Amino acid sequence: MKKILVLNGPNLNMLGIREPQIYGSQNYNALVEYVLSSAKELGLDVTVKQSNYEGELVTLIQNALGVYDGIVINAGAYTHTSVAILDALKAVSIPTVEVHLSDINARDEFRKFSYISLYAEKVIVGKGFLGYREALEYLGE
Ligand code: DQA
Repeated sequence: MKKILVLNGPNLNMLGIREPQIYGSQNYNALVEYVLSSAKELGLDVTVKQSNYEGELVTLIQNALGVYDGIVINAGAYTHTSVAILDALKAVSIPTVEVHLSDINARDEFRKFSYISLYAEKVIVGKGFLGYREALEYLGE
């Protein structure tokens, strides 16, 4: 069974409260449940983690080496700023799919650039929770 790490960055724990017109009304627990039930259907062993701290996300990626076969990452705002997260992904060289709930290309100018996209094999934006399932399907192939 393939092992996949799903990593969520800052403020994703605020789902349901933060800007519901952009991110929807379902909370973070609902996202975790959705991801885990998708994983079960797809026959994948999935671990979901969230952190508001850039360094912790870097450590979680480093610790994925030799443990996980794939990473799904929504780095939140660090997407647009973090060379450190990009370097960690490059360091472990684990197949990675980048996911965003919203369409980052259709919002503020500063959201159009993603450091994560410089490494990710696939980028899924604007599909809400479904994007995570599509990412798992891709990595499970
Ligand atoms: C996000 C998009 C980012 O620009 C934003 O900073 C987030 C969430 C998304 O899932 O749409 O925190 O990654």
